[in-house]
Amino acid sequence: MGPGKSPQEQIESLRAVLRRHEHLYYALDRPEISDAEYDALLRELQQLEAANPSLLTADSPTQRVGGAPREGFVKARHSSAMLSLDNALNEDELRDFDRRVRELLAGEEFRYFAELKLDGLSMAVRYNAGSMQLALTRGDGEEGEEVTENARTIRSIPLSTPDATAFEVRGEVIMPNAAFQKLNADREEEGLPLYANPRNSAAGSLRMLDPKVTAARQLDFYAYFLLVDGAPALPAHSENLDRLRALGFKVNPACRLCADLDELLAFIREYESQRDSLPYEIDGVVAKVDRVEQQTRLGWTSKFPRWAIAFKYAARQAETVVEKIDVQVGRTGALTPVAHLRPVVVSGVTVSRSTLHNEDEIARLGLAEGDTVVVERSGDVIPKVVRVVKQGEDRRLFTMPVECPVCGGAVIRPESEVAWRCVNVNCAARLKNSVLHFASRSVMDITGMGDVLVDQLVDKGLVKSVADIYSLTAEQLAGLDRMGDKSAERVIAGIAKSKTLPLPRLINGLGIPFVGESTAVDLAEALGSIDALRDADEPTLQTTEGVGPKVAQSVRRFFEDANNRELVERLKAAGLMITHQKVDRSGGALAGLTFVLTGTLPTMGRDEAKALIEAAGGKVSGSVSKKTSYVVAGEEAGSKLDKAKDLGVPVLDEAALLAKLQS
Ligand code: IVH
Repeated sequence: MGPGKSPQEQIESLRAVLRRHEHLYYALDRPEISDAEYDALLRELQQLEAANPSLLTADSPTQRVGGAPREGFVKARHSSAMLSLDNALNEDELRDFDRRVRELLAGEEFRYFAELKLDGLSMAVRYNAGSMQLALTRGDGEEGEEVTENARTIRSIPLSTPDATAFEVRGEVIMPNAAFQKLNADREEEGLPLYANPRNSAAGSLRMLDPKVTAARQLDFYAYFLLVDGAPALPAHSENLDRLRALGFKVNPACRLCADLDELLAFIREYESQRDSLPYEIDGVVAKVDRVEQQTRLGWTSKFPRWAIAFKYAARQAETVVEKIDVQVGRTGALTPVAHLRPVVVSGVTVSRSTLHNEDEIARLGLAEGDTVVVERSGDVIPKVVRVVKQGEDRRLFTMPVECPVCGGAVIRPESEVAWRCVNVNCAARLKNSVLHFASRSVMDITGMGDVLVDQLVDKGLVKSVADIYSLTAEQLAGLDRMGDKSAERVIAGIAKSKTLPLPRLINGLGIPFVGESTAVDLAEALGSIDALRDADEPTLQTTEGVGPKVAQSVRRFFEDANNRELVERLKAAGLMITHQKVDRSGGALAGLTFVLTGTLPTMGRDEAKALIEAAGGKVSGSVSKKTSYVVAGEEAGSKLDKAKDLGVPVLDEAALLAKLQS
């Protein structure tokens, strides 16, 4: 901001810059600056506004989350009815719809506009004098609930627009799958009930009494109608969508004008095959006659428009019987109930097991063995039990075992947790899972140390603690099932090589609850050695970036346990890397960039590519999001490549990556 500008001018130009970046990031999925840069600009604006309170306006980018929690919602009437659509459940029903439209339009030319049917909830947002005024849920179609404060927290909804006339935008509020999975994972950790699917969690999140809660939920809004006085603003649906884009709204790029039913069917098939790789849930395709004047002539039945239809994809749900519920023991000792299902195909995938998370979830479902349930794949590849549809005749109620099903040891349910845990640190199940975690590729990367070997090592008493891995000999291994001399040698070589891996991997390998790959890096960089980590108190731990009270307490508790301290001493004696030096790579060629690797690169292994990127200051992440700078794709790249294309993330091949590394 140059000198000589008045505070008003400074504030206005900062707002313009911030709005542009909000639009690039949230509406177009095409960010030009990093989150940190955006936050710095926002802070600058906040400071200027704080110093000049008279210049604060409701449509400032700083004003997304405001307002105190409310008691309830006020109702308001819609500008025109917000009806829903008739469904076509198969191709024949779609043909019937098409025939009716053609008959009613008596041979006239017309086109269909095809859009994805996003699985969320519809909402109307009103603008006047260039700023957002009111947001209403659909409600009963005539009257909705005012959720203005909550809608303001959805970043793809502009708070101000270049058009000063009064207009209304209708569209769908959704929760992207990644946000849904993260939300449920957090809720599970906190012992809160889980949301059944992204649609329910979008609906619940939009109707929170406290806008701060909505703000944290990462909702998104896709616009599909532009109305003036309750009727379409421009003569064609496609023109209205173009106008919405120009006004700064997010309009789904997955849409198409179709000349006839065949083109519409092609669109429907195309997106059905991509359904699993989209970043949000869809339940079908909506087809609308494009010209508003033709829509008007087609008119409405008492319930639905005659000019539009929802083609529904097959449900990703199926009914089956819970034959048995048993309990698995994880490496932290958590007891997880698992439903064994009569195998059933859900949208092409056979499902026979489903986690039930914890006993509260079973109580919430009211589930017993023998019950018939609905299982669903939704927003998640992992199937889940949604509800009981019929109680079994000889249903058997489930109770959590009073002792560990693997070692017979005591189980406790710590206060403030939803999970029961086996307290025996030497429990075979815990030990097996701990060893598998320790040896896994992203941790100590010991090749050949999979389930079959680990089961035998633990069952035969060769491994009683993770540290015992380092005293195994090739002779011991060669005597085991499915182990020849060669594979035994290979495992021993893998064990030796693991000693040279950097400290963050070892910290991750210890299996401290809530400490995963990235926290392990933060801790290693902040404290510099395993001894310093062991001795750090909670306040010291909390000074580490990314470490809050929960992680700090968990680390402390871990090292208070004498068994764990002994484990660390033994790993030190075995010669593992126990110190760490933070390497300053902020000047590297790839500093600040995030990469996702997919497919097989022509000459480089994936680990090699990862190491090169990290050495140049870049980060490698496992999943593609708006924050991904580049996707590096090789042969047989899968859904990550599709997702990159979908989000507009640039894609590099190996040669282009190497060129960037050298730049
Ligand atoms: S048009 C009168 N377009 O599906 C026309 N709806 O039963 C009403 N939906 O209530 C809606 N994606 O919540 C339309 N691209 C889309 C949609 C869409 C999802 C939802 C919407 C509506 C329901 C239709």
